[in-house]
Amino acid sequence: MINSASSLVGVRFVGSGSAVPDRVLTNHDLAQMVDTTDEWIASRTGIRERHIADGDADSVANLAAQAGQKAIAAAGLSPEDIDLIILSTSTSDDLFGTAGRVQKILGAERAVAFDLVAACSGFVFGMVTASQYIRTGLYRNVLLIGADVLSRWVDWQDRRTCILFGDGAGALVLQASNDPVTDNLLGFEMRSDGKGNDLLNINYSGRSTFEPISMNGQEVYRFAVRRVPEVIEKSLNIANLTVSDVDWLILHQANQRIIDAVVNRFGIDPAKAVSNMGKYGNTSAASIPIALDEWVQAGKIESNHIVAIAGFGAGLSWGSAVFRWG
Ligand code: COA
Repeated sequence: MINSASSLVGVRFVGSGSAVPDRVLTNHDLAQMVDTTDEWIASRTGIRERHIADGDADSVANLAAQAGQKAIAAAGLSPEDIDLIILSTSTSDDLFGTAGRVQKILGAERAVAFDLVAACSGFVFGMVTASQYIRTGLYRNVLLIGADVLSRWVDWQDRRTCILFGDGAGALVLQASNDPVTDNLLGFEMRSDGKGNDLLNINYSGRSTFEPISMNGQEVYRFAVRRVPEVIEKSLNIANLTVSDVDWLILHQANQRIIDAVVNRFGIDPAKAVSNMGKYGNTSAASIPIALDEWVQAGKIESNHIVAIAGFGAGLSWGSAVFRWG
């Protein structure tokens, strides 16, 4: 398995973008809908508000295309330069896939486009998938988008889950580098454990319908705190790096307490652990690229910074990647 920089074509990370719906739902708004408080939600999760899709304008396709457009522009490319679009989503507008709609909106006519479903690990799994197409020399410019509209699948009367999720999209352009070869994807590791599949689901319920999100919060929490540090350590080992080399740690934005636990476990400076879930909640496959884009836009993530990302969620699935920005 090639998961370190060792091939003839390397991967560079050349542009990011993100988009969220305008409509904001605060914890105080939620307290009007279910038996909860801002204090309970903020202290247990770190979430204070989230953006919620409002009709077709905020479809997965539209949010994904907006984020993708910004990433393509940030990379200094045009849509026709894109060879491959990977849309990581678990909340497709169409069960046949939404990537084709994104391709159409973008006008990325040369691209091949497909969806990838790996829940909150979707962006990490998508990054690994995209990089394989680049390292084999098949494609030069890949647009990877993580986009989810979980608000469609939340039971808004279930206070244990409806407080957690928000909607949005984040995108990244990965580019081939062979002259000279620079491979900025330094290491990665992906894992699955189907034995935990029933801990987090949106199940088909027959007659063209799905049930709302069901989750065993405590078990998912335990899984994340145990497995995420392991997988980060593994990808750092492959990269020949240690936690002290990491400039920015971007975990899937599910719960501030999970981030705090990983920070404590590694003994790293909490300021290096990117956190924006206070504003967005858990946006599933979009959470890592939204956070990445926000930190890039703010000038915090700079060229050559080492970024470690880790996603985790339904499947169960989890994974990490370590890369050099730029
Ligand atoms: N407001 C007020 N009380 C709430 C509540 C809410 N929104 N949600 C649950 N409660 C209550 C429960 O009913 C329970 O009451 P009881 O003791 O009277 O039965 C109590 O709070 C504790 O519930 P519990 O489920 O044990 O809370 P918790 O500390 O585990 O926190 C989560 C719940 C969901 C915040 C936490 O488990 C979590 O974040 N898990 C990880 C989830 C996650 O990240 N999922 C996505 C992964 S991609």
